[in-house]
Amino acid sequence: MSSQLLELEHVAKRFGRVVIAEDLSLAVGPGDTVGIVGPNGAGKTSLFGLISGDLAPDAGTVRFAGRAVTKLDAAARSRLGVGRTYQVPRPFGDMTVFENLLVAAQQGGGLRRRASYAAAVEALDRTGMAGQANTPAERLGLLQRKRLELARALATQPTLLLLDEVAGGLTDPEVAQLVEIVRNVNAEGIAVIWIEHVVRALTAVVSRLICLSGGKFVGDGAPASVLADPAVREVFLGSEVTAALAGGTLEPSPPGDGPVGGERSEP
Ligand SMILES: Nc1ncnc2c1ncn2[C@@H]1O[C@H](COP(=O)(O)OP(=O)(O)OP(=O)(O)O)[C@@H](O)[C@H]1O
Ligand SMILES: [Mg+2]
Repeated sequence: MSSQLLELEHVAKRFGRVVIAEDLSLAVGPGDTVGIVGPNGAGKTSLFGLISGDLAPDAGTVRFAGRAVTKLDAAARSRLGVGRTYQVPRPFGDMTVFENLLVAAQQGGGLRRRASYAAAVEALDRTGMAGQANTPAERLGLLQRKRLELARALATQPTLLLLDEVAGGLTDPEVAQLVEIVRNVNAEGIAVIWIEHVVRALTAVVSRLICLSGGKFVGDGAPASVLADPAVREVFLGSEVTAALAGGTLEPSPPGDGPVGGERSEP
């Protein structure tokens, strides 16, 4: 049996004429840290959908923890240990932070009542949200909403954590706090795949970087060498990849200016 935690084998998916995954193969081991960059519309969030079960592939196989999960829905994969955050946070606004975590632990993680309380408390602690436990989610500011999104994923007790732009819109100190949380989570053995335009956050955590463009991997390897790769630089034509290497944000080219345009779906 393979020792990999996650394996994609020749996964393909398109929406009409838009190819979001073209024959993608990927292996991620237990406890690995992988960053994913790519222009808007590259298919990054869709790739998470294919891994989490929110999207069914047209072809190919998804394996998780040694079993084929291609035909399992998101709820089943979540119970197996695939935790994800959503680019646009999806808390239950009228529930408190703690109630949101209980729901995640019970419905996402499949935990019974007592275990779900323990998982919710642990998620609060890991994300530094204990002080907001009784705050309705709709009253949280951006940083806290991002943290809650992360906490909800953690409450499902994942072995693979998929983070979709959790650092977007945060200040530098807030990004640093988030990086610390993700590092600590990973130090406990949870594998992390992190989609982010804020490259300094990624490079602080990940040992491997993948660039996705047009549903294809155009770079995969050590972060510095991927960011220096001409094929990757071509994808980010007109943006400051070198500045990103020095610690900036890897902003995609403006729509119409580069190979792939599109709207940011985050503020
Ligand atoms: N459910 C859907 N139906 C049709 N097209 C979709 C659907 N979801 C995504 N797309 C399209 O697929 C392409 C990839 O979208 P995706 O959200 O995966 O990109 P992304 O790399 O996450 O972009 P961003 O950086 O803006 O978040 C886009 O052209 C998008 O409009
Ligand atoms: Mg996205």
